[in-house]
Amino acid sequence: MSHVLSFENGHAVAQEGETVLNALLRAGLEPAFSCKSGSCQTCMLQAERGDIPERAQRVLPTHLRRLRYFLPCRCVPTGAMQLRRPHPNDLVVGCQLCEASVQADGCISLVFETGRPLKYRSGQQMRVVTGAENEPLLTLTSCPERDLLISGVVDADAASLLPRELQGTLGDEETFGHPFELRGPFDDMPPRELPAPDADAALWEDLGGDAKVRAVMEAFYAKVYADEQLAPFFVKVTRERAIDKQFSFMKQCVTGGKLYMGDRPRNAHHWMIITHALFDHRQALMHATLVEHGLSDALIERWTVYEEYFRPDIVKSARLPRTLGNQVVRTTGVTREVLGEGSVCDQCGGEVTSGETVLLHHHMGTISCERCSPANA
Ligand code: HEM
Ligand code: FES
Repeated sequence: MSHVLSFENGHAVAQEGETVLNALLRAGLEPAFSCKSGSCQTCMLQAERGDIPERAQRVLPTHLRRLRYFLPCRCVPTGAMQLRRPHPNDLVVGCQLCEASVQADGCISLVFETGRPLKYRSGQQMRVVTGAENEPLLTLTSCPERDLLISGVVDADAASLLPRELQGTLGDEETFGHPFELRGPFDDMPPRELPAPDADAALWEDLGGDAKVRAVMEAFYAKVYADEQLAPFFVKVTRERAIDKQFSFMKQCVTGGKLYMGDRPRNAHHWMIITHALFDHRQALMHATLVEHGLSDALIERWTVYEEYFRPDIVKSARLPRTLGNQVVRTTGVTREVLGEGSVCDQCGGEVTSGETVLLHHHMGTISCERCSPANA
């Protein structure tokens, strides 16, 4: 006998003896899975409606069984079921601490292993399970494709909410191997599925080349700086700087040439809480500016593809730490740094060569050369 399975916006029909997982896969509904044999728990779903055979829940902890979670790869349905993906709040993973340390800015950096494979992306957040109402947030900073151990950072003001062993104040003997649990990961945005749009050098010319795009940028930022929702983000940034950075960034994206010097959007916007609505509002201002400059709908559509691509890096509901590789970078104050590669002074525009010492403003990400900010001034 066959049974209807509803999952997200689709349906699958499980044939006699077929597992829920196989039926969903056959219907092209893309459930997550890995081992297909009940051990990895990657495929776990929640049954909003329908009977769950005991075998499909046997290995799950009590609280998940109560919440009607089950393993679709172990489940041959006995009737119709309505299914949904797990809520990140319900997903708890056991971890073992390798290292906890306090950083210069008071943030706590954690390095750990998980008891089962964890699917995550750098920048996603998890909660450290403490049982309290406000469980501290941990932002993941490692890269699953590159790092064997997982690392993350907890904001300085949440440090006291962590269990003592995770606060970075105890020695290795007390912390190494310490067990703890994480909930999540939580996602503001679904993982990016599309590759970066290819360069489209003809588009730059079709838009009208450097002079026209610069005029568009100038008109756009005039609107942004006069906009009561957007202007507050720009109080510490001159309009010229915003125009220059955006111009060279977009020219690099569209033409493929290497001419942008500055942060990638994820880092540039790491402290800004930008909702989808605010992102859309900015897009509407950009759209209006492009229309005012006589650009066709087709051209505007081609331009918007590049901006939209960065939405997942920019829209978020909590600030992200700024990262360099898997290191969290300071975001306040100024320090003197020796440049590893040549750059340009953000004050005078002069060239700064590799090995020169510059003054680095951590929040703005700007550098100031020896001539503009002499060390013994
Ligand atoms: C609502 C949406 C957005 C807001 C509120 C916003 C705000 C800002 C602000 C305030 C800065 C200056 C940061 C600083 O210098 O510290 C900035 C920089 C920048 N933004 Fe945005 N932005 C938004 C969307 C975008 C989009 C869609 C893109 C790309 C397509 C983008 C690309 C950039 C770039 C390349 C920089 C320069 C980074 C650097 O200085 O190194 N932004 N943005
Ligand atoms: S796919 Fe591994 S438990 Fe179902």
